[in-house]
Amino acid sequence: MSKKRYLVTAALPYANGPLHIGHLAGAYLPADIFVRYLRLMGKDVVFVCGSDEHGAAITVKARKEDTTPQAVVDKYHAMLRDTFQKIGISFDIYHRTTEAIHHQTSQDFFRKLNGKNEFLEETTEQYYDDTVDQFLADRYIVGTCPVCANPDAYGDQCEKCGSALSPNDLISPRSMLSGSVPVKRPTKHWFLRLDQHEAWLREWINTGITDGKQLHNPANWKNHVIGQCNSWLDQGLQPRAMTRDLDWGVDVPQEIPGSAGKKLYVWLDAPIGYISATKQWALDNGKDWEPYWKSDDTALVHFIGKDNIVFHCLIFPAILKAHGGFILPENVPANQFLNLEGRKLSTSKNWAVWVHEYCEEFAGQEDVLRFNMIKKMPEQSDSEFTWKGFQETNNNELVNNLANFVNRVLVLSKKYYNGVVPRINAELSFKSGWDIDKTGQYNEELRLLHNKLQEMGAAIERYELREALRILMEISSAGNALLQFNEPWKTVKDEPEMVKVVMNLAIQYVAVLSVAARPFLPFAADRLRQMLNLTALQDNGDLLEVLNELVEGNPVVPPLHALNEPEHLFSRIPDEVIEKQIAKLTMSAEVPADPDVADNASKSNRNNELKTMNEQAPDSTEPIPMVYRPVSENIQFDDFAKLDLRTGTILSAEKMAKSKKLLKLSVDLGFESRTILSGIAEYFTPEQVIGQQVVIVANLAPRVMMGIESQGMILMAEDAEGKLSFVSSGNGWPNGMGVK
Ligand code: 2FM
Ligand code: ZN
Repeated sequence: MSKKRYLVTAALPYANGPLHIGHLAGAYLPADIFVRYLRLMGKDVVFVCGSDEHGAAITVKARKEDTTPQAVVDKYHAMLRDTFQKIGISFDIYHRTTEAIHHQTSQDFFRKLNGKNEFLEETTEQYYDDTVDQFLADRYIVGTCPVCANPDAYGDQCEKCGSALSPNDLISPRSMLSGSVPVKRPTKHWFLRLDQHEAWLREWINTGITDGKQLHNPANWKNHVIGQCNSWLDQGLQPRAMTRDLDWGVDVPQEIPGSAGKKLYVWLDAPIGYISATKQWALDNGKDWEPYWKSDDTALVHFIGKDNIVFHCLIFPAILKAHGGFILPENVPANQFLNLEGRKLSTSKNWAVWVHEYCEEFAGQEDVLRFNMIKKMPEQSDSEFTWKGFQETNNNELVNNLANFVNRVLVLSKKYYNGVVPRINAELSFKSGWDIDKTGQYNEELRLLHNKLQEMGAAIERYELREALRILMEISSAGNALLQFNEPWKTVKDEPEMVKVVMNLAIQYVAVLSVAARPFLPFAADRLRQMLNLTALQDNGDLLEVLNELVEGNPVVPPLHALNEPEHLFSRIPDEVIEKQIAKLTMSAEVPADPDVADNASKSNRNNELKTMNEQAPDSTEPIPMVYRPVSENIQFDDFAKLDLRTGTILSAEKMAKSKKLLKLSVDLGFESRTILSGIAEYFTPEQVIGQQVVIVANLAPRVMMGIESQGMILMAEDAEGKLSFVSSGNGWPNGMGVK
């Protein structure tokens, strides 16, 4: 956070279809959280995006819909823009690549690169469809994938296995336009000499250094991003064609000989779209765009999905460097993929949750989808959205924890103090919401809140948004625990002064949440401000102000401030709503019953692994007499496969006051730490379990017990007398590994 200004980009979506939840979780929501947080911290930040309106993705769609490319992009640009707005993605500009300013900017880039001899002009043999008189690049040609044998792989990529391809890689190629077998014809194109950029790119990606300058710290980049870059680099970068024979796109500048009929490759012009969007934003707002792209004081951050890594980490940086004068991205925190109900999201098979439909059917519940997407964000590995999980998360966390807390505070404040924040004697003590064994001191509790907010911010700055959300919810849990431990409804008559302190503090918690929740749940945050009768957030340092007060132990809402009427922040989602969505998904999917081939393949692999593990179980030579409990009823393999078991290490443990059975554990899963309440206190002391390697059920829906949210379950072996021992991951296994 040392940079003076931030330029944040989110991948320009193709304007050839609506937005689904995979797009949201992959790029737009993480970018939005990051940007909203920066604004709350008073940073100078510009958030740009827009529709990617060129390339075969558009023209193929126009053919399918029997319309023009312009009509396609007009329709989907408007749809995408409106959907982003409804789900609260707060772009400073949502631009489009068909705008004149973008064509000029892209052509200027081409001219500059051409002038600097960055291109090889080469005539090569390319596939051509005689029946429609057209060259077939990218998505105009389909054939069998050489990697996974998918018969419908595109000329640029196989959507089944994700391999990047070129038309020459396809087995049995056929024209997408006529279905005919294409012939080869010579054509001239401009190839970017990526091979000449390989050495510096390797150094820059792996060390953050280029031209002797430390530009980023690779330790802050995600492993899978660096891994994918290195796998491209290790194969050796080849010159890549930056032009196409097409009639839709940005023209190769006219004055360049041989430009007639040639357009820029969409992956050349699309990332330049970030620059033209910034230029347009600057024009609209009376600002200068150049410092955002050219000053070392700026941090450029690209949010994308993992299929865009090579373009943002290798090709676009090569273009920027070749041009000269532009900064390189400080980070490219790409996410992996989100699956849906056990299968890959697929636009063509209509296996998707469409965000515009969600916004219509769940109007007013936009934050529920955002919350779920963050909980399931595929930050380090692919993750999965299920409608059941969506319901559970809403009911257990948003309703039972957050909304319940806010409601209790506002209703009790109204009842006891007529909705006016009570004046207090800050010296009086009470039971702390963070730890029941500790006595709370008003100012000290406010400092604890400060520390939590700092932790949350640090997680956002590390792009660990799931962790940041967990910390936010910890604040709400602690607020609930504060009420639960002190039971104001029982003590208000006998200890009214102490209850005033508790209630005043609880109001401070809600006020803190109304700011801290904004990056994640912007609509709920606005409503909280309203309920608290606090000014709407300015997105200009509001969190910084709160932190500055809390660190001094000062409240953020003064005594005698009048609160507004309480409202329900979130409400329960009943089973029928979820059943309807599941039915809609399966009914409208093109392949209703069977999961796709890739899923079947991975399931049968898992079957084999299981078999091997069982076959390899060591024989016991010395049988130990045991009393066995009967084996439970059979379950289906699919039921077993739903369990996500992970290795972990217990980092800390403490007894839960008022409970004989529960230990409160903090378990390191490698990618995150979890709080788990485990019913083992009668068998183990806290000291005995610290450092223990364990296996946990990582995808068990969280449960709030005694005001604390338990986020998983530790696997234990139980003998006939009910004595417990840990199922140890053992062997010094790293934390976070899957157990099958
Ligand atoms: O993959 C896609 O949807 C592309 N339209 C992303 C482009 S990102 C950027 F380079 F514009
Ligand atoms: Zn493939």
